[in-house]
Amino acid sequence: MPDVRPTVGDSSWFVHDRFGLFIHWGIYALPARHEWVKQYEQIPDGVYQKYFEHFDPDLYDPNAWAAAAAGAGMKYFVITTKHHDGFCLWDTKLTDYCVMNTPYGKDLIRPMAEAFRAQDMKVGFYHSVIDWHHPEFIIDDLHAMRNHPERAKLNESRDQSKYAAYLHGQVRELLTGYGKVDVLFYDFSYPNPEPGRGKGRDDWQSEALVRMTRELMPGILVNDRLDLMDTDHGWDYRTPEQFMTRDWVTVDGRPVVWETCQTFSGSWGYYRDEYTWKSVEQLVKMLIDTVSKGGNLLLNVGPTGRGEFDGRALDRLAGMGEWMKRHGRSIYGCTQAPADLPTPADCRLTYNPETNRAYVHILSWPIVNLPLDGFAGRVKYAQLLNDASEVKMVEGAVHHGYTAESDRKTLTLQLPVRKPDAVVPVVELFLK
Ligand code: GLC
Repeated sequence: MPDVRPTVGDSSWFVHDRFGLFIHWGIYALPARHEWVKQYEQIPDGVYQKYFEHFDPDLYDPNAWAAAAAGAGMKYFVITTKHHDGFCLWDTKLTDYCVMNTPYGKDLIRPMAEAFRAQDMKVGFYHSVIDWHHPEFIIDDLHAMRNHPERAKLNESRDQSKYAAYLHGQVRELLTGYGKVDVLFYDFSYPNPEPGRGKGRDDWQSEALVRMTRELMPGILVNDRLDLMDTDHGWDYRTPEQFMTRDWVTVDGRPVVWETCQTFSGSWGYYRDEYTWKSVEQLVKMLIDTVSKGGNLLLNVGPTGRGEFDGRALDRLAGMGEWMKRHGRSIYGCTQAPADLPTPADCRLTYNPETNRAYVHILSWPIVNLPLDGFAGRVKYAQLLNDASEVKMVEGAVHHGYTAESDRKTLTLQLPVRKPDAVVPVVELFLK
């Protein structure tokens, strides 16, 4: 197995569980056209305020959310406690710009953490280090007010270190008042050598922030977006975003713990008029592909302003759950297959080192024979995962005189003509 870089936080559950739910929720659910709407449309605070004043998710039922996630086979969740617009979803004592002062008026985070824990799921907090609302946050090129005519003048009276103190204070609240938190997902740094253009470790006081995070919550896993990639302790796992990697993610040539975060339709926050939704089949394949490279999938839902997962999201989660119910064994506890077991054509392989079983995910159903090069003499028994029906095996290649015998150490699986009723059928191989 690859020599994976050790983490400071506890990643043992993380690399076992493999599949989590990301939730992007905030007052941007009301404009319903991207969580960056304030920045994209350069909406002034006074105008953006209407979403704060109308935020009232009366149908919010975190138990229903947790049940939908558990039904999809997800084992942890990560919620945006604050996104870049600065709106806080918990009862923070450090700003009035939080849910307590909206018409809803109740802490959203506490019941959510409880509901997901009750489903045996781990708890993760996403926290934006960027803040387009805080009065001390220096207006840079990414800020919603970047083209404000008084930008330079406004910045004169701003003190980024006061913002950093606020940021640290809020993280302290979240890590001391909400029970066990398993993951902290900070977002994001964009250092730029030109003063006032970007933001990096000095702007967040990243070193101290990570130290405090780990002190307050020993074992917590911390992601990689605090501009501390060159340190040993500053991050635990890499987070490729909306990107499917070709191979196991590495840093300085060494495989690392990693998780790709992905959306259903492109935006993270609820986007009413977005029509680029991925199908259940694509999503299942994303999960398989990720685990076959030793990674995790964090799949996002953007709940509505009424507090619900919309029908399109529920449909995708249910579809994934249908597959996971019978195929979770090829995902949980699984990782990339050993190098001496090559991936067959049109397939993805995963492997469970505990049980010594390999899983052949068949992306394109072949006509009867599926040759597995390198598997000759390696397999005791084979079955389809969806119904535990035996798959016959022939040692060697089935060639009928048309192709020459090869020395590829082939084992041939003999599959039914008809593709089983599963978006991606899986053959479970009990290895010797
Ligand atoms: C990004 C985006 C964002 C989203 C996120 C998820 O950096 O700014 O809107 O929250 O990453 O990974």
